[in-house]
Amino acid sequence: MAPEVTPPLSFEHGEQPIGPTGRPLPSFPEPPELTSHGPARVIAMCNQKGGVGKTTTTINLGAALAEVGRKVLLVDFDPQGALSVGLGVPTLELDVTIYNLLVERGHDVREVIQGTSVDGLDVVPANIDLSAAEVQLVGEVAREQVLARVLRPVLDDYDVILIDCQPSLGLLTVNALTAAHGVIIPLETEYFAMRGVALLVETIEKIQDRLNPRLEIDGILATMFDGRTLHSREVVSSVVDHFGDRVFHTVISRTVKFPDATLAAEPITTYATGHNAANAYRQLARELIARGGAA
Ligand SMILES: Nc1ncnc2c1ncn2[C@@H]1O[C@H](COP(=O)(O)OP(=O)(O)O)[C@@H](O)[C@H]1O
Ligand SMILES: [Mg+2]
Repeated sequence: MAPEVTPPLSFEHGEQPIGPTGRPLPSFPEPPELTSHGPARVIAMCNQKGGVGKTTTTINLGAALAEVGRKVLLVDFDPQGALSVGLGVPTLELDVTIYNLLVERGHDVREVIQGTSVDGLDVVPANIDLSAAEVQLVGEVAREQVLARVLRPVLDDYDVILIDCQPSLGLLTVNALTAAHGVIIPLETEYFAMRGVALLVETIEKIQDRLNPRLEIDGILATMFDGRTLHSREVVSSVVDHFGDRVFHTVISRTVKFPDATLAAEPITTYATGHNAANAYRQLARELIARGGAA
């Protein structure tokens, strides 16, 4: 068993405490109120490893942004449909999903957008149908730009669009990265978390080069952090050594509240509104806005 260590909360830098990433923790201001909405900044939630917190982060960052008055659209871009299910959408009963928007002509994304239990938070659902899209798109003209085209009509209606990618670097993920302004990379705080990240960064650079020069890495997010273990803190510190300021100061702790909230088909910000884990996603929303990653 890993030794349990209490995380140090020292005040070596004046009044600024050392955060869980080992750096002085800035305070993130309350986001300014928006008086009008759009155009959206599009962010892809990406890591080709499964189970790292992409879907959980998409739902909860989205809900936290909606709480501060942002209009947010979540796009389920994984045939598993976990994002849709996590927001209470009955995916098997849907006639039209993101799949139809991608492969059939004559649809409008507004036909498919659904509201959620959270004000200001909408979703484009997916289900297993989407697994066929990758093969069907291969022969299309501008096959990497299909999602960007699908989202274009609603860019002005939202402040942020978050795309929950599937765990692969295939054509669907390439579409997400081509439609996006930014990428957030959730990393599970485990040894070997960085395995595969080099390949992801290489893919992002190729897309910047060939398809989408505006694309930037908005940040790396440490998830499933356990501050009591030396192991978690070592992993985070090696991620910071490697990626420096691109690592969010906010880290997401490991807690069973997340699977519980998924079962309840609600974001943690409403399921356990006062819980630290809900506050962590609120802080992430403030940090993202403070960095210019969202309006
Ligand atoms: N911070 C966390 N603490 C504990 N469990 C988590 C946390 N984040 C996600 N989970 C759980 O881990 C599983 C995988 O998370 P998920 O967001 O679906 O990952 P991905 O979309 O990358 O595959 C889910 O069951 C989810 O509820
Ligand atoms: Mg997922």
